[in-house]
Amino acid sequence: MTDLISLNDLTTEQIYEILDLADKLKKDNKEGREHHILKGQTLGMIFTKSSTRTRVSFEVGMYQLGGSALFLSSNDIQLGRGEPISDTAQVLSRFLNGIMIRTFKHSDVIELADYASIPVINGLTDDEHPCQVLADLQTIREHKGQLKGLKLAYIGDGNNMAHSLLHGCAKTGIDIAIASPEGYTCGQRFVDDAKAAAEKSGSKVIMTSDPVEAISDADVVYSDTWASMGQETEKEIRAKIFAPYTIDKKLFANAKKDAIFMHCLPAYRGYEVTEDVIDGPNSVIFDEAENRLHAQKAVLVKLMAR
Ligand code: CP
Ligand code: NVA
Repeated sequence: MTDLISLNDLTTEQIYEILDLADKLKKDNKEGREHHILKGQTLGMIFTKSSTRTRVSFEVGMYQLGGSALFLSSNDIQLGRGEPISDTAQVLSRFLNGIMIRTFKHSDVIELADYASIPVINGLTDDEHPCQVLADLQTIREHKGQLKGLKLAYIGDGNNMAHSLLHGCAKTGIDIAIASPEGYTCGQRFVDDAKAAAEKSGSKVIMTSDPVEAISDADVVYSDTWASMGQETEKEIRAKIFAPYTIDKKLFANAKKDAIFMHCLPAYRGYEVTEDVIDGPNSVIFDEAENRLHAQKAVLVKLMAR
């Protein structure tokens, strides 16, 4: 493992190694033991989109591991004025020990990794959000005690979250059912990759437009915003199209009694989920947010420890 660009690039064993290390780092952190494994190392964090969780969790994670992190807003670095990605990658590789990037085009992250001589981590693109799903898998295992054999229902836009959940669930043997309105379904290559992985792990991939079908008997119910970063102008039209996909108490009641509710956040209450569900007793959204820190520390150690 030299970069983390897509969960599709990882083997099931590599995913479990990250999750096991994340659990250990979390326990050590709670019990006051920090390991300065990345002492003297610096992570550069390029952002061309907003962030609360990704920025703070990576920055704090680097500090806890004994290193430091640099916030590089694309508004302030020359990349934003047209300096080529290839030059940026090669220059940053002379100063830094790793790069985390959040941006629009997934191909830009691949190009950055191609030219960088240091590890590159995808902190979200239009297509994928692998770090979020590692934290999600850690959270699911904490609450359910297992991954294999569970069913996760994702209700909403076939976006970056849905794509990374397809990869992560299929590789770890979780059945995944995705319900999206027509025209807003997942990219076919993500579905194909997930189906290939699911065949190996013995899980199922179900793609439907029916939210009740997807959520029935689910152990985990997941939602995300209907208008991702970069789609702000489509917010109103999407609100109309996605209205039947709101996860409210009535829809949630189709899941298993002890189902957990998850959301990568930020959430828009009253749109993709109602307040009584996201703030209700089955919601684990803040455990999920916290695990960004622990899961990403595991990724940083795997990629950067000397
Ligand atoms: N879930 C997530 O990636 O949150 P931020 O956009 O705040 O980083
Ligand atoms: N799908 C959302 C996820 C935010 C963490 C977006 O891309 O804006």
